Amino acid sequence: MNSSTAARPPVATGLAAHVADGLRQDPKTLSSMYFYDATGSELFQQIMGLPEYYPTRAEYGIFAAHGPAIAAALDPAEAPGPFALVELGAGDGLKTKLLLRELLATSNDFSYVPVDISPSALDGLAASLAAELPGLRTTPVATDYATALAQLAARPGRKAVLFLGSNIGNFAPTERAAFLAQLAAPLGAADRLLIGFDLQKDPRRIRAAYDDAQGVTAAFNLNLLVRLNRELGADFDLAHWQHYTEYDPLTGAVRSYLVSTRAQAVRITALQHTFAFAAWEVIHTENSYKFTHPQIAALAAAAGLRVVATFDDGDFADVVLARA
Ligand code: AVI
Repeated sequence: MNSSTAARPPVATGLAAHVADGLRQDPKTLSSMYFYDATGSELFQQIMGLPEYYPTRAEYGIFAAHGPAIAAALDPAEAPGPFALVELGAGDGLKTKLLLRELLATSNDFSYVPVDISPSALDGLAASLAAELPGLRTTPVATDYATALAQLAARPGRKAVLFLGSNIGNFAPTERAAFLAQLAAPLGAADRLLIGFDLQKDPRRIRAAYDDAQGVTAAFNLNLLVRLNRELGADFDLAHWQHYTEYDPLTGAVRSYLVSTRAQAVRITALQHTFAFAAWEVIHTENSYKFTHPQIAALAAAAGLRVVATFDDGDFADVVLARA
């Protein structure tokens, strides 16, 4: 190595490249994709049980009430034979287990492919499935959505794809449309896509779901800085950062931020760079969009999909889609 290359910062990849890019934007932005290290996955588990965080309970209730109809929509009688049930962002699989039980009872010729960015979440899921549903064939895949979409496109045979929990809400609108189009492209006539959408409702309920009284969501957001300290040798001082969230009923967006409570400089050793933050400057860390039924229909149509069935409890909707 000559002296000029030695003086240059290392080429950043993965998380480092993302942070280098995101903290140079205006406003500074980091992706919620990086929330899910082992601690973040554990905190998200806690969020799903919080009194204020209604989406998980709502979707669980829909699956409990409509299991047979949802299973029939995903595995239509006119398309017999084996299929793969691929779940993007599987997490702990709590809701999916209801559906898996239903499918095991009605069509035993399928395998379950849970995909998640968190290896620790997948390990937990695989262990609980082996104990609770020993007859199920499971192939867990630890990867991000981009890789999962490429793998999905290359997968032969019939498939039903699950994208639950309003994970779709974490995309910005342009990313969302691109993601759905990519998800729809490889679907054959008998393939199905089940997407969980959190619906627009009382703005105060929505805001409270992202700013709970126990501070678990705050810890979840702030854990991103803990991760940067550990993995990139950053020196974020958590005493001078706050969680802040707002809901905008005009756009349906919940936006979450990390707020710098004073002017400060943060060194990130892996990037060989120091970032300056003004007092009350924010890092935008997450979008959690909420939807209306007309928006869902328009999103589906724009991706070349049609709505096959909708299961809705007023708070949340699980929508089964097929190629238009
Ligand atoms: C994973 N995702 C759908 C959750 C949401 O509601 O946006 C993540 C979350 N962020 C804060 N609370 C929950």
